Amino acid sequence: MSKIYLALAAACAIAAAGLAEADTPATGTSPEAIVAARQASFQMSQAVFGSMRRAMDGGTVEAKTMAYPSGALAHWAKALPGMFAAGTGPEAVSLKMRAKPEIWKDRAGFDKDAADYAAAAEKLFDLAKANDTAGFKAQLVEVDKTCDACHAAYRAKAGG
Ligand code: HEC
Repeated sequence: MSKIYLALAAACAIAAAGLAEADTPATGTSPEAIVAARQASFQMSQAVFGSMRRAMDGGTVEAKTMAYPSGALAHWAKALPGMFAAGTGPEAVSLKMRAKPEIWKDRAGFDKDAADYAAAAEKLFDLAKANDTAGFKAQLVEVDKTCDACHAAYRAKAGG
């Protein structure tokens, strides 16, 4: 009896281990995975930012309805510098990318642009929570400027 029980327990443990392996997301931090994740995050931030601008253009939408997307953008803005770890630049990774080598040569400048962006996005989130619709609309323009400033210095032209 106890032998059967032990055998069953062992079989269950093996099955559980197999399942755990299949269900657990990849934990590797290969440079390719980091580059793919940051590019996908930029595409999603473009989608989120464009959606907020179009929604607010209508003139009938209240800022408080933008709390979730603006909060997500602020969250991503804080995570952004971490997605440009050493060894994830164009010289180290063969994936197509628009990140310029200057990011790693002028890290302080890049981090400053990222901090400006994070501060602008955090303010946008605060204005949404305060339901300050006029302020929110004006802050969308300010956030956009911080995207452009970093791209001008640290993002290569498309197709380049
Ligand atoms: C601190 C710098 C910085 C800020 C701020 C920034 N970006 Fe970028 N962005 C980059 C870099 C660098 C790349 C290229 C990344 C790569 O190819 O690995 C990029 C790429 C992109 C891409 C192309 C993604 C792709 O692979 O197709 C989009 C779209 C984008 N950014 C949108 C935005 C928007 C919208 C904002 C502001 C809401 C923003 N970015 C703010 C640095 C920045």
